[in-house]
Amino acid sequence: MKIELSNVGYSYKSGHQALDDINLCFEGDQSVAIIGQNGAGKTTLAKQLNGILRPTQGTLTIDGTEISKRTTAQWSKRVGYVFQNPDDQLFLETVREEFAFGPRNIGVDEATIDYRIDKVASLTGLQDKLDVHPADLSPTEKKFCGIGAVIMMDPDAIVFDEPTCGQDYAGDARLHDLIAELKHEGKMCIAISHDMKFVVANFDRVVVMCQGNVLIDGKPEEVFSQVDVLQKSYVTPPPITRVAQGVGIEKTVFTVPQFVEAIEDVRSGSENRS
Ligand SMILES: Nc1ncnc2c1ncn2[C@@H]1O[C@H](COP(=O)(O)OP(=O)(O)OP(=O)(O)O)[C@@H](O)[C@H]1O
Ligand SMILES: [Mg+2]
Repeated sequence: MKIELSNVGYSYKSGHQALDDINLCFEGDQSVAIIGQNGAGKTTLAKQLNGILRPTQGTLTIDGTEISKRTTAQWSKRVGYVFQNPDDQLFLETVREEFAFGPRNIGVDEATIDYRIDKVASLTGLQDKLDVHPADLSPTEKKFCGIGAVIMMDPDAIVFDEPTCGQDYAGDARLHDLIAELKHEGKMCIAISHDMKFVVANFDRVVVMCQGNVLIDGKPEEVFSQVDVLQKSYVTPPPITRVAQGVGIEKTVFTVPQFVEAIEDVRSGSENRS
């Protein structure tokens, strides 16, 4: 799967230009985090990827087909979008109905739907909640119900809008496992996040947005080493990365073991010189 944006701009009906001139290509089973300050245009960009919003300038193609050629319902089979707020997404009486709704709507047979419900319930930890009303779920469970409903469509790419927002520690761990499983199945995962620890732990590529434009696009190590540029979008690297940068370690580290290793490297380097 290939999603290509060429000179994409987007203006809301109010006249506000939320995306300026975006050129990006997402391909294969890449995992991509989109970060940047509030109002940078992340959600507006993410909603273009399956046609919830359509470019007002430029072109967006999915596997070479222009987004305008199909409806959002048709694109949802290829690219799923998980809303930041599950209340914007969930509207049925039970988790099971939420899970079954999308695939049933596109004619998936009941045996396949049942098989997918079992799998998705286990991935999202909602095995015992299938007959519960979504309104009676905890905030974390609700979030997973929204995620599960999108996975049920078996799309090639899944876009998560701030999936860690409101999660507890166990929820974060489950999300990590769920994304790992989706990546293992060859799916493209794209997530908007303000949680830099989550970003560096789960994604191979980071796109930084600022005022409707892409500020930096690269591997996490490349992106988080550019502290001065990042400040333009009020993004600060993860805490351990900042500590390492603060003590002058040149290598960009994301974990405590990497930090310790970098300190050892500096120490053995200075011992060798003395
Ligand atoms: N429906 C709308 N009508 C008019 N302007 C909007 C609308 N939705 C968003 N905007 C504006 O477009 C800009 C980009 O908004 P967007 O929601 O894409 O930002 P974001 O990067 O997702 O921010 P956040 O991190 O707060 O979720 C902001 O200035 C926002 O106020
Ligand atoms: Mg947003």
